[in-house]
Amino acid sequence: MTEAWQPGNRDTYFGAVAERYDRLQPIVAGPGYSAGLSFMPDLVPHERDDAFTFVELGCGTATLTCSVLERFPQATGIAIDGEAAMLGVARRKLAAHAGRVEAREANVLECDLPDCDVVLSSFMFHHVPPEGLGELLRRAARALRPGGCLMILDSMRAGPEWGEQIGTQRRRLRDRQVAAAIGSGRATQEEIEARWDLKRQMKVEGKDVEYSHSAEGILSAMSDAGFDDVGLVWRVFASTILIGFVPRQEGAP
Ligand SMILES: C[S@@+](CC[C@H](N)C(=O)[O-])C[C@H]1O[C@@H](n2cnc3c(N)ncnc32)[C@H](O)[C@@H]1O
Repeated sequence: MTEAWQPGNRDTYFGAVAERYDRLQPIVAGPGYSAGLSFMPDLVPHERDDAFTFVELGCGTATLTCSVLERFPQATGIAIDGEAAMLGVARRKLAAHAGRVEAREANVLECDLPDCDVVLSSFMFHHVPPEGLGELLRRAARALRPGGCLMILDSMRAGPEWGEQIGTQRRRLRDRQVAAAIGSGRATQEEIEARWDLKRQMKVEGKDVEYSHSAEGILSAMSDAGFDDVGLVWRVFASTILIGFVPRQEGAP
């Protein structure tokens, strides 16, 4: 646990962090990350024994896909990510669910999205450029069967009242979370700082590109893409869950 930081493939940010992602991300990502991920399966609009199909966009190490497969034993899924190193970790975790899930390496902005009942995504939409948002949502709407559901968990900009003081409160909670993780031996100060340094460097090098979407902007784009009954259903600071359904009749645009 105390070994020095050894980033993996430095060509991409997620290539560099993949092997330690599951241990460090819940610590460094702030208070809404783990809470949002653990709440997502509760929001899937299916009964435990429904044999529905789902697609996860930007699955990373497939934490969410694993939780859905565990919660819904008849469900089958396709977990898509563009980063081979993240998918490498995902495939190891998904081996326990062999036959019910495929981990697919692809760019979600371009690839075919298979027909399904639920499209899920956690902390991937902030990598989608504003000009690509509408098209991705339209493709998700087309992939969904009538009545199907899109669920997006991500960090989303709030309204103008989202001020410095609220940001300070969030950082205080995150710092407490980091201190607790270091205190309990789940991470070292050195690797946490190295991870933040790496993120800063990768941003400067253009290898970690993020965009700021507002919840209202995504909700509006979802409506334009053919979703009805769209809403913000959960939020902890900026970590937000949006849900939208395609109409029950055929013909989403
Ligand atoms: C912050 S991580 C989130 C991973 C995981 N869903 C989670 O909640 O921890 C973002 C993930 O989205 C993937 N990603 C970003 N843009 C993508 C794209 N256009 N196509 C496929 N994957 C993408 C990255 O490779 C990375 O694994």
